[in-house]
Amino acid sequence: MGLHTTALPDFPWDSLAPFAATARAHPGGIVDLSVGTPVDPTPALVREALVAAADSPGYPTTHGTSELREAVVAWFARTRGVPGLDPAAVLPTVGSKELVATLPSWLGLGAGDAVVFPEPAYPTYDVGALLAGATPVPASDGGLAALRERSDVRLVWLNSPGNPDGRVLGVEQLAEIVAAAREVGALVVSDECYAELPWAPRWVAEGVPSVLDPRVTGGDPTGVLAVYSLSKRSNLAGYRAAFVAGDPAVVGRLLEARKHAGLIVPGPVQAAMTAALADDAHVAEQRDRYAVRRELLAGALEGAGYVVDGSEAGLYLWVRPEGGQDCWQTVADLAGQGILVAPGSFYTGGPSEHVRVALTAADVRVREAAQRLLGA
Ligand SMILES: Cc1ncc(COP(=O)(O)O)c(C=O)c1O
Repeated sequence: MGLHTTALPDFPWDSLAPFAATARAHPGGIVDLSVGTPVDPTPALVREALVAAADSPGYPTTHGTSELREAVVAWFARTRGVPGLDPAAVLPTVGSKELVATLPSWLGLGAGDAVVFPEPAYPTYDVGALLAGATPVPASDGGLAALRERSDVRLVWLNSPGNPDGRVLGVEQLAEIVAAAREVGALVVSDECYAELPWAPRWVAEGVPSVLDPRVTGGDPTGVLAVYSLSKRSNLAGYRAAFVAGDPAVVGRLLEARKHAGLIVPGPVQAAMTAALADDAHVAEQRDRYAVRRELLAGALEGAGYVVDGSEAGLYLWVRPEGGQDCWQTVADLAGQGILVAPGSFYTGGPSEHVRVALTAADVRVREAAQRLLGA
């Protein structure tokens, strides 16, 4: 029997274990900047909403409560420049990773269909294509060349701001990609989970644009979806809380499939999401925390002879040594200083000169890393 998993790459994080052991052996202990897992508290107002909904004997609705979907619609209008979204075209997901990994399958894609995703990228876009038996096509241009040159492109993943490199797509670029995809009937899905963490002055001033922005879609979401996760913006990774929104017909098909499969966000989590989406203050607070850590780490890395590329927004610094060397050597160098980072090759599917440095460690550990880097 052929399991789909035989087609999957080895789980990359296992290969980092020896470097984690080296970093842990540092007399000052490890500073773990490898996995971007939030470390700050889940906001009180969100926890309170979860607890208030803890009595939950019945099945929750797969489509999400109308309160949750209205909160998503209001959030899009208030913070993402997307007014007038149809609440029926919103669907909560159990975190966003499961959706990323299964969307090509739910769409019925398979052999002969191409799934385009960014390069470098979060590896799960590739995994989703492989699980469906579709052809994974990494692209560094948002898929424009693939859309124009191939006849098999059915799905284009965008990730703006990008993990790992923090690249942001502007309105013009998004509009060009959506127009090219519409010409061939391909679906564009933009994973926007870092949208509320802008750093470059342009994105702080303008906001990171959503693919559902009317300047991108012409006010018609046909053929376009946005995916958003509360894991990072609300320190909610443990709740598994995300949603997808956009093209009503596609969301409707996903809803039908997910109803059959029992893929439902738990009721108390739906209540917590509703509270989290209605509050912008905790997001600003969290952004300020990451801004301090980012300043410290970027300054120390640059002082130690590293270059930070891209990283205009999001939760990571995309870093290479000035002289240039393979990412695994940089992982080893930093592990020797007790600092664990992720090799760029996890995100490129090949060699890389970059490492990814996450901003997700407590302030005291980030200060410790900065001191070690500067030899203080
Ligand atoms: C680009 C991107 N998409 C999706 C996810 C999945 O997040 P979650 O499943 O917590 O919503 C991550 C997590 O790191 C990510 O970096």
